[in-house]
Amino acid sequence: MRILSIQSSVSYGHVGNSAAVFPLQRIGHEVMPVYTVIFSNHTGYGDWGGPMLTGDNVRDVVRGIDARGGLDDVDLVLSGYQGGNDIGDAILDAVALVKERNPQALYACDPVLGSAASGCSVAPEVQSLIRDRVVPKADLITPNQFELGFITGTDPHTIEETLVSVDLVRANGPKNVLVTSVLRPDREEGTIEMLAVTEAGAWIVQTPLLPFKVNGSGDVTAALFSAQLRESGDAAAALGRTAASVYELLENTLNAGSRELQLIESQDAYVSPKHSFEVIQVR
Ligand SMILES: Nc1ncnc2c1ncn2[C@@H]1O[C@H](COP(=O)(O)OP(=O)(O)OP(=O)(O)O)[C@@H](O)[C@H]1O
Ligand SMILES: [Mg+2]
Repeated sequence: MRILSIQSSVSYGHVGNSAAVFPLQRIGHEVMPVYTVIFSNHTGYGDWGGPMLTGDNVRDVVRGIDARGGLDDVDLVLSGYQGGNDIGDAILDAVALVKERNPQALYACDPVLGSAASGCSVAPEVQSLIRDRVVPKADLITPNQFELGFITGTDPHTIEETLVSVDLVRANGPKNVLVTSVLRPDREEGTIEMLAVTEAGAWIVQTPLLPFKVNGSGDVTAALFSAQLRESGDAAAALGRTAASVYELLENTLNAGSRELQLIESQDAYVSPKHSFEVIQVR
């Protein structure tokens, strides 16, 4: 499968395309990374070097790929954090061009806005860009539970509330939704869940909650789930496989005492994860 992935690049560590590309390649996909920023490291360190690219830079790269015929067989467009309208418009243009070349292509948007722990962490411009203009154009979105609430003007906690919010956003565009970091009030202590909803149904998967937070895990989660759903159309299988791969990656990272994902060391986790978590149909 050929994937156009428009995300940031970091030299040190693994977020954005520097988290998403390798796992996708390791499971056999042809990935064309297009960068939105080229930074030394993720901004959580407080300082970094390197340029932000403009919407026109992104358009130039996409145009060059198109000139090679490289958009004709793109099956999936992935996007991550969008820093403003300039980049957002270029991503929407790329999606439109890809769909012109291949109407079967799917656009998977990770609507990065914040988290339950940190609240909304993006500028007002980005909030309306994502909520009002990007999400309605997406075929698949991968919000965490907080972002789902933000996009829909709801505050979902239980599985039932989360399904109601998912249906609100599905009525507005994206037919496929993966909700990450679902923390329902009645969960077993020390667990975390993900919920996948498509036209075919809704499924949850639960894993142990590891006692740490590392940047980039959401980027790997979105990439693996999107590619696997696009490839197989089987949301339950994609959910179980993604949960197992990401859990093993996080477990390895925790055991290594690392501040950055053990992305390369965990390469077998993407191909044949050693854990297997039960996927339960909830609708
Ligand atoms: N501490 C953890 N223990 C177990 N699994 C985790 C942990 N952190 C993340 N995950 C897994 O990774 C998935 C993606 O979560 P992650 O928090 O990285 O992305 P997110 O929910 O979008 O948040 P953010 O984008 O703010 O990092 C979760 O649904 C969960 O399956
Ligand atoms: Mg996220």
